[in-house]
Amino acid sequence: LENLNFEAKPGQTIGIIGGTGSGKSTLVNLIPRFYDVSEGAVLIDGQDVRSLPLDDLRQSVGIVMQKAVLFQGTIYDNILWGNEDATEEEVIQALKDAQAWEFVSAKEQGIYTKVEQGGRNLSGGQKQRLSIARALVRRPRILILDDSTSALDYATDAKLRKAIRELTYHPTTFIVSQRTSSICYADEIIVLDDGEVVGIGNHEQLMEQCPVYQEIHQSQFQDRKEA
Ligand SMILES: Nc1ncnc2c1ncn2[C@@H]1O[C@H](COP(=O)(O)OP(=O)(O)O)[C@@H](O)[C@H]1O
Ligand SMILES: [Mg+2]
Repeated sequence: LENLNFEAKPGQTIGIIGGTGSGKSTLVNLIPRFYDVSEGAVLIDGQDVRSLPLDDLRQSVGIVMQKAVLFQGTIYDNILWGNEDATEEEVIQALKDAQAWEFVSAKEQGIYTKVEQGGRNLSGGQKQRLSIARALVRRPRILILDDSTSALDYATDAKLRKAIRELTYHPTTFIVSQRTSSICYADEIIVLDDGEVVGIGNHEQLMEQCPVYQEIHQSQFQDRKEA
């Protein structure tokens, strides 16, 4: 990543878009320090993340990785991994916000349904929603969704975004996506191309000024119309 400079204000939603390998995951992984910068700095409330106790930092960040990781155990166990002190009620609320409650509650054992190793008995979209619930149950100050709604249909993705906007604790949210429909409402969108920022702005501004963004948007708009 080079020449990247932006600020996310508390409660804002930041969209990050760009092709495969453009550096989207690298960028968001700098926040919970899965990597550290080689130059420059990532600051939270004006403090360099490298100066914060790692436990505190990780506690305040809820990150949903690109590949959903579920382990053998109940759905409940899997969600508690995000916050072991969460009550059953809080787990159910997180499942509702993550748009997972409908399919979980339809199962005979509900939140006590067994998840097989790697989540083999769940669909891709179900796994993604459980991973999101796990991040939400922690009520994070910073929420990061790294391409974690790619298996959801447009309607469910839209419902999820609405639920996130309505969270009472207003996390600062980073949404990484390859689809403009998932990030076009964001306060600020960062367009990456091969590790470089080729556009920063809201949807309207980028549609006017950023050819890379226009191209992504138009190709998908065409796809959707055809679908
Ligand atoms: N751990 C790593 N070590 C070295 N290079 C990496 C590592 N992870 C990713 N990369 C490279 O960095 C670039 C950006 O990757 P990534 O951030 O995963 O992109 P995106 O999420 O936009 O698909 C790619 O060229 C990728 O091969
Ligand atoms: Mg990625």
